[in-house]
Amino acid sequence: MREIQKEIRQLLDDLDAQLVAHFYQKDEIVEIADFSGDSLELAKKASQSDKNLIVFCGVGFMGQSVKILAPHKDVIMPKVACCSMARMVSSGYYDASVALLQKYGITDILPITYINSNADVKAKVGKMGGLVCTSSNANKIFAFAQKAGKKIFFLPDRCLGENLARSAGLKSAVLGVDSQEKVLRADVICYNGFCSVHQLFMPADVAFFRQKYPDILIAVHPECRPDVVELADFVGSTSQIITYVRSLPPSQKVAVGTEFNLVNRLRPPYEGKQNTFVLSASIPECPTMNETTLKDVFEVLKAYKNHRPYNQINIDATTAVFAKEALNKMLELS
Ligand code: 13P
Ligand code: SF4
Repeated sequence: MREIQKEIRQLLDDLDAQLVAHFYQKDEIVEIADFSGDSLELAKKASQSDKNLIVFCGVGFMGQSVKILAPHKDVIMPKVACCSMARMVSSGYYDASVALLQKYGITDILPITYINSNADVKAKVGKMGGLVCTSSNANKIFAFAQKAGKKIFFLPDRCLGENLARSAGLKSAVLGVDSQEKVLRADVICYNGFCSVHQLFMPADVAFFRQKYPDILIAVHPECRPDVVELADFVGSTSQIITYVRSLPPSQKVAVGTEFNLVNRLRPPYEGKQNTFVLSASIPECPTMNETTLKDVFEVLKAYKNHRPYNQINIDATTAVFAKEALNKMLELS
């Protein structure tokens, strides 16, 4: 263990704090975390933990989710970096979308927001009786939503919305992009947001790997474009991808369409050969996830210990109430 890692562990012990990290964090952070996980696991485990101080290494909406679910805890983030997809929707854009739907004559909607959205947007969704989903429980949440007999307004990730609709045999359209007629026909109306990292994977990348290694398997995150998801052998959340890839025979080649820090630590080489590939010629790095360094973790802990806390997550009370309703509905179903 590096010296700074030991110092961080010592500070965590002194403060009786828990360090949690999303799987996309740098290796040096994941190595010393009390636990790492996907967005659903982290929201659940960190909010239910017996520690009162949570040091969250991830992106802003993840730390917010813990604070909303466990308001009595102190949640600090070494870097409060905002997921680029979450930044594509605000409460103002949410209102404008609902107004456009109303203009089209669509008034009875069930809003579902991907967890990759900020607290104010979750609150808007909660206030309208909607709920949150993550990539690991999205199918379940969709199955529940279908029973409500309403059109689903899904935000902010159009790709996830379109992929879910397709796998459930539902019609989808993208608000503000597709025609009014298409939106009126759709069961799932998607907001026009996307993940800048998962957009990097292209059908040509799948073709390249399949041509080079005819027996290769392709596993992708559902934030990938629908035309990539259609070509994949496996589609799943971060944790589901880990389980899938690690259950393959070690000689089985697999190309994975998700963040490169995670892909690189999925499987060690087998008999000197690397059989796990990043499904892209470029480096699909989530810039905001990668902002957090060991130094940031050390500094935020030291400041907290010296009673000069910063990067503490706080959510205003009204926002928290409605955002919690939307999050709790998801947790009840997953
Ligand atoms: P997971 O829910 O799989 O952790 O995904 C979160 C995310 O931001 C993926 O880009
Ligand atoms: Fe957001 Fe994409 Fe980064 Fe996930 S990978 S945190 S969706 S920008």
